[in-house]
Amino acid sequence: MKRVLVIHGPNLNLLGQRDHAHYGSLTLDDINAKILAHAKERGIHCEVCQFNAESDIINQIQSAEVDGIVINPAAYTHTSVAIRDAIDAVSPPVIEVHLSNVHAREEFRHTSLTAPVCKGQVLGLGWAGYLLALDYFIHES
Ligand code: DQA
Repeated sequence: MKRVLVIHGPNLNLLGQRDHAHYGSLTLDDINAKILAHAKERGIHCEVCQFNAESDIINQIQSAEVDGIVINPAAYTHTSVAIRDAIDAVSPPVIEVHLSNVHAREEFRHTSLTAPVCKGQVLGLGWAGYLLALDYFIHES
């Protein structure tokens, strides 16, 4: 059975109360329920986690024993060389997900330090982006 880890970055624990126009109205628990149901239906083992601290995200990336990682690094996308280096250093492929279309927002969100070391990126599709990223790992041989 394939194993996928989904990592949610800082402030994503506030989904549901945070900026509905960009992030929708679902809570992180709602989104995680959709992710876990999707994985179960498709026969993959999936775990979800959320961290506000950069070091926790790095430790999780380094210790993950999985076939793939889906990560929304949130604000760290635009600032964290350390998370980029962690993604670059591990062997499982990593897909970066953003709920919002960061390219349609403030200029500082247009740069992703992490995307160049990821397998791919899904953005602007809301919570469905996580399911699409999972589908890649389901279909990828
Ligand atoms: C985000 C986009 C980031 O710019 C922002 O800092 C977030 C969420 C998204 O999912 O659209 O916290 O990663």
